[in-house]
Amino acid sequence: MTLKKRSLLTAAVALAFTSALPLTAMAQKKIVLGFSQVGAESEWRTANTESIKASAKEAGIELKFSDAQQKQENQIKAIRAFIAQKVDVIAFSPVVESGWDTVLLEAKAAKIPVVLTDRSVNSKDTSLYVSFMGSDFTEEGRKAGRWLVDKMKGTTGDVNIVELQGTVGSAPAIDRKKGFEEVIKADPRFKIIRSQTGDFTRAKGKEVMEAFLKAEGKKINVLYAHNDDMAIGAIQAIEEAGMKPAKDITIISIDAVKGAFEAMIAGKLNVSVECSPLLGPQLMSATKDIVAGKSVPKRIVTEEGIFPMEVAAKEFPKRKY
Ligand code: AHR
Repeated sequence: MTLKKRSLLTAAVALAFTSALPLTAMAQKKIVLGFSQVGAESEWRTANTESIKASAKEAGIELKFSDAQQKQENQIKAIRAFIAQKVDVIAFSPVVESGWDTVLLEAKAAKIPVVLTDRSVNSKDTSLYVSFMGSDFTEEGRKAGRWLVDKMKGTTGDVNIVELQGTVGSAPAIDRKKGFEEVIKADPRFKIIRSQTGDFTRAKGKEVMEAFLKAEGKKINVLYAHNDDMAIGAIQAIEEAGMKPAKDITIISIDAVKGAFEAMIAGKLNVSVECSPLLGPQLMSATKDIVAGKSVPKRIVTEEGIFPMEVAAKEFPKRKY
């Protein structure tokens, strides 16, 4: 075969191959998921980020990850960038509940499905997102309240509670407060004497607890913290004030991260209500289903427990976050 004939043949084979390529390439095209994370404010959040990154890798999904540093404007910018990049699915954990309609309408107009993970939005138009997966925060608040009511059975006198709230306007802060109050209001002995945000961080939890102790001192019987990190910060403040956490002040928190188990084993935290951050596998399977045109449930609720200090040592080795 002459050199000319051979190169003609090579070109013909190459042409046949590339004309078959679009189909093959389409079948193998990686799903692209844009994910806007709240930030890195807590041990819970770090575990959530790890779960999402690891499961995307395992599922063979290309993840575009953006950290909003607890700012709604950064999340809106990230979502707009995902729309411009024409990702297949957008997922995000909204830092606060309100103010999402405009950007969600933009995603809808671009025909990009949106999945809410961990926290929800309060948009009236629920067609703006395909699914919301995460905990029932109101129920978590109720569990905390029920545990306290049960612990105080048989005691007399007022139960003075200080509350460390999560980020102002966030779904977990709103719902955990609501659920807890719903339970304790049945008995007028239970009084929330101070309530302030600690923004879900250890540093803020410590700072606000210091202020509570300064204002109320020994009057405080109970601390209800909307997450473990704030409780851990507050424990430090209580110790620095010369008091014994979990003895002089009963401490209830939410998340059940490893740090909380360590505090319970050390006898410094009474109970932690579970809130699982391991949402990655669910999100990846929903993403695949959505891209495949399958329907996904509108609400996927995470199943969770509650861990008092008495079971902490036994449960600790089983904890995954
Ligand atoms: O939205 C879940 C909450 O956010 C967790 O309870 C808290 O630790 C986190 O920062």
